[in-house]
Amino acid sequence: MNDPDSDIKSMKLYHHLNRVMNELRELGKDETEVLRVDELSGFDQLHYHGTEAVDEAIRAVGINEHSTVLEIGSGLGGPARYLASATGAEVTALELQEDHHLMASDLTARCGLGGSVKHLCGDFLTHPWDGERFQAIVSWLALYHIPQREVLLERCRSLLEIGGFVYAEDLCERRPFDDLEKEELRSELYANYLPTRDQYRLDLVASGFEAVLLEDMSDDWTAFTRARLDQYLEHRDRHLRVHGEEVFETMCGFYETMVRLFSEGKLGGVRVVARMI
Ligand SMILES: C[S@@+](CC[C@H](N)C(=O)[O-])C[C@H]1O[C@@H](n2cnc3c(N)ncnc32)[C@H](O)[C@@H]1O
Repeated sequence: MNDPDSDIKSMKLYHHLNRVMNELRELGKDETEVLRVDELSGFDQLHYHGTEAVDEAIRAVGINEHSTVLEIGSGLGGPARYLASATGAEVTALELQEDHHLMASDLTARCGLGGSVKHLCGDFLTHPWDGERFQAIVSWLALYHIPQREVLLERCRSLLEIGGFVYAEDLCERRPFDDLEKEELRSELYANYLPTRDQYRLDLVASGFEAVLLEDMSDDWTAFTRARLDQYLEHRDRHLRVHGEEVFETMCGFYETMVRLFSEGKLGGVRVVARMI
């Protein structure tokens, strides 16, 4: 049987967790020193436009100090920590990969946010919940990893309070991929569900959600990923010094792949706001 926690490691972005330690060392932090959320933002947000994209969710869904929020696929915990510190919301951060989960938990504790961000390790499709309910479910670049959209949305419904919101930034298909491209997307991005924007809407509606917003982010993310690669190469010497050659080459390879996939015009991006009805 497939093990999603190890299969997902086919994606280069998830190879070198030591990037985080390297960046902390570069900041002059020892292994236990207290950290601030804003000190980590340059490297703990594994999606496009960093904390600005989290601000979008805060505005779109109206997250505040009374909100209870679940993040699906919380990675290194960057969005969850920023959400909690910017709004005072109570955030539950669910992450599939154990190494990322452990790193995220440690960073959160060192930021003094252990009381407002709860880290859980598990697969959203199977994680057992104990009657918890949330006002909002948020997710950045994680849903396309997860197969079985119907099950995923049904689980979202069962975890949301009536009228609750889903906010997601996700990959999608702009034009059809051929079999070879699908194979590449599966191994390089661990893509398990890449619907068109229309299909995204149909899935939401079929599962009892009102699609409030389905914004096409494709051009924006094409430009973003290109600028990200250019910037990474511009600071080549710095990255080689801080991370070494293996990490540098891996990240370049990943950033180049994303530029190519977006530029070819078949891979797209979508920002979704949906309300449970
Ligand atoms: C591109 S990262 C984004 C992390 C975080 N949302 C951020 O923006 O910084 C996507 C994350 O989703 C997680 N993920 C993938 N499938 C998952 C699942 N079935 N359940 C929980 N997390 C999952 C991955 O392990 C990965 O850490």
